Amino acid sequence: MTRWLLTGGAGYIGAHVARALLDSGRGVVVLDDLSTGVRSRVPEGAAFVEASVLDTDAVRAALTSYDVSGVIHLAAKKAVGESVEQPLLYYRENVGGMVSLLDAMALADVSNLVYSSSAAVYGDPAWSPISEDTPCAPLSPYGETKLIGEWMVRDQARARGMSWVSLRYFNVAGAGSPDLGDTSANNLIPMVFDALDRGERPQVFGTDYPTPDGSCIRDYIHVVDLASAHVASAQLCEGGDAAAVFNVGRGIGASVWEVMAAVSEVVGRDVDAEAVGRRPGDPPELVAMVDRIRADLGWSASHDLHDMVASAWPARPNPV
Ligand code: WQD
Repeated sequence: MTRWLLTGGAGYIGAHVARALLDSGRGVVVLDDLSTGVRSRVPEGAAFVEASVLDTDAVRAALTSYDVSGVIHLAAKKAVGESVEQPLLYYRENVGGMVSLLDAMALADVSNLVYSSSAAVYGDPAWSPISEDTPCAPLSPYGETKLIGEWMVRDQARARGMSWVSLRYFNVAGAGSPDLGDTSANNLIPMVFDALDRGERPQVFGTDYPTPDGSCIRDYIHVVDLASAHVASAQLCEGGDAAAVFNVGRGIGASVWEVMAAVSEVVGRDVDAEAVGRRPGDPPELVAMVDRIRADLGWSASHDLHDMVASAWPARPNPV
């Protein structure tokens, strides 16, 4: 049995990846400092190490003592606005975290790595759908640290030989079960639910974009599909000599108004969303080109927007 270390494995996405890895027959060691992760999300059957990725000795010890063959690195700060206000926090945690992890991997002689990157590396690209070869021009320190992380993996792989995959997530949503929802309320669907639970009208940020209905278009991807992309990536790494960057999306755009319609359908009433002004820095359209991941990994998403909203609704933090 191969065993994978999952940094950030007690987070929203990590909890789903941990289960998918266990279901694939792999062993799992979750390493998480519980700064935003939750211990109860770590599944039975996974080992747990409470430590920060910045603690190189602790990561190295976990890799060695559990005889780990690869790492899935999710642990990171991920709030775009916060990264603008506190860039050094993002450089310390995301870039420093990657230095520490790659050091620990070299010391423990572990060379398989799946890295959690983001569509934020593209910034506001001139074309949509976006291929992996589109020039990267991130618009926030968050996106910059994710792109730097990709470079670090690539460079370390050239220097010492690694088998690696970087996954550029688009807009992740949904839940695999009611106890595994996204509790952070930083993104559209959790924010809509939060407004509804407080008896307020959800807001549409900007209705004058150059899109068919005037609201922004994103490529929403179910967290369960995202988790299976990690398992397929781990498998590719295990085969040796992987060096790949993949978009992880559906290749299908949905506008904010379309998300509001999906929520209305799920909750059984019109959510009566309110059009408000644009949020600064939002690109009009971000949709993934998914040909590469389909061809090279044999992976494609199987859940649609309705599945995401319907699974996220009972999984929201404080259902009323
Ligand atoms: C989606 C759309 C909003 C809330 C960010 C990061 C990205 C990734 C995911 C990863 C936008 C609109 C939102 C609301 C709205 N992060 N919106 N009303 O901005 O596409 O991507 O999160 O770790 O890197 O940039 O996601 O969910 O914030 O917004 O109209 O109450 O919904 O303007 O068009 P975004 P989001």
